Amino acid sequence: MLDVKTFHMSTFIPMPYEEALAPRLKLAQDKLQSGSGAGGEFTGWVHLPRDYDREEYARIQAAAAKIRSNSKALVVIGIGGSYLGARGVIECLQSPNYNQKKKDGPNIYFVGNGLSSDAMGEVLDLLDGVDFSVNVISKSGTTTEPAVAFRFFRRLLEERYGREGARERIFATTDRKKGALKSLADSEGWETFVVPDDVGGRFSVLTAVGLLPIAVSGVDTDALLRGAAEMMELCSKPGYGCPAWRYAAARYQLYRDGRSIEILGCFDPAFRMMAEWWKQLYGESEGKEGKGLFPASVEFTADLHSMGQYIQQGRRLMFETIVRFGPSARQLCVPEDAADGDGLNFLAGRSMDFIRDKAAEGTLLAHTEGGVPNLIIEAGERNAQSLGSLIYFFEYACGLSGYLLDVNPFDQPGVEAYKQNMFALLGKPGYEARRSDLEAKLAK
Ligand code: PA5
Repeated sequence: MLDVKTFHMSTFIPMPYEEALAPRLKLAQDKLQSGSGAGGEFTGWVHLPRDYDREEYARIQAAAAKIRSNSKALVVIGIGGSYLGARGVIECLQSPNYNQKKKDGPNIYFVGNGLSSDAMGEVLDLLDGVDFSVNVISKSGTTTEPAVAFRFFRRLLEERYGREGARERIFATTDRKKGALKSLADSEGWETFVVPDDVGGRFSVLTAVGLLPIAVSGVDTDALLRGAAEMMELCSKPGYGCPAWRYAAARYQLYRDGRSIEILGCFDPAFRMMAEWWKQLYGESEGKEGKGLFPASVEFTADLHSMGQYIQQGRRLMFETIVRFGPSARQLCVPEDAADGDGLNFLAGRSMDFIRDKAAEGTLLAHTEGGVPNLIIEAGERNAQSLGSLIYFFEYACGLSGYLLDVNPFDQPGVEAYKQNMFALLGKPGYEARRSDLEAKLAK
């Protein structure tokens, strides 16, 4: 079971912070459990692993099986919370090289998460002569990036299969009732899945948003939900027996002590997109009202040869949270070499895991001695059940952390600013006044 180790940060904080923070965590806990805190209408994810819609879950499995049988590619269109979780889970559990490595099932391409013509054009080219389906995901149904991408891929589908044929290949994940995507899906007869009203984008990976693409990749979604349900059970009981309490308390205390950056690190490159998911979860939930830790991520050991310098000796602004998984599925040992020209025979016969673990221990000691507190999250074996637990753990700790900071962890008013400007500059009807104002500023 997942564990949070605080020993290598506690030496930086001599006071018994856990005891001092317990009453505030209890209040935060009550708010999450009852949905009575700021943004409480978006706490549907708290009991989701128990209360999810079984009928829809069966439809997700059926849709995944259909896509696997009639498509050689699935194009997943979405951005932010409608994208990162699915990609993170697929890369972590299948592989960052999933498309090259998989034995069966379709390739999976993620688009609509940016505005690069070249990136999208590349995927359009890759679909040449390839049977494909589309899962378009947008809770609001109006986000520009996925909406623009969907136009291209819908057109390609309709040209290739006709409107009727395309209907069999478009799956829309969106609001239950409202939004442009929902209206379009209803009028065109596409199969739809729901982003529940009470679950915000960045907390939606365990809804249809994440589950459909994840199921298509062949990951065991039952195990993922089982792991999340186990963690939900643990988190339902107040107290430091809950790992999310330990994590939330430690990072909050470090923040109060002047550490304004949290670096999430992992020694497994397959975790890279999960770290991106984590950054969105914490960045969007905490970063408001001039408060919040800045979430950054590193991939070790690669980044020890780049960011490692700053972490060791740069400004003392940060702490590290290291996610550790159990033994690798594949044990490779360093070969013996009679000539020993590279002087590496002292490692001959040693497993890569052994070398990695020594590197991790050496890094931990170097960084803490360099003044960087370390938190360690022991996540268990890298499998669907453990990852489900880890996802729920991070979500729950994020909710607790937001309430400790006294912000609404479930809104994101700040992301509107760029959107308003972009709409105005693009000439969207209704934004005329803002447009002239912005263009005058740009002309300076
Ligand atoms: O967490 C969030 O709410 C956001 O990151 C959204 O997921 C993101 O902006 C995409 O929104 P939508 O699903 O409405 O297209």
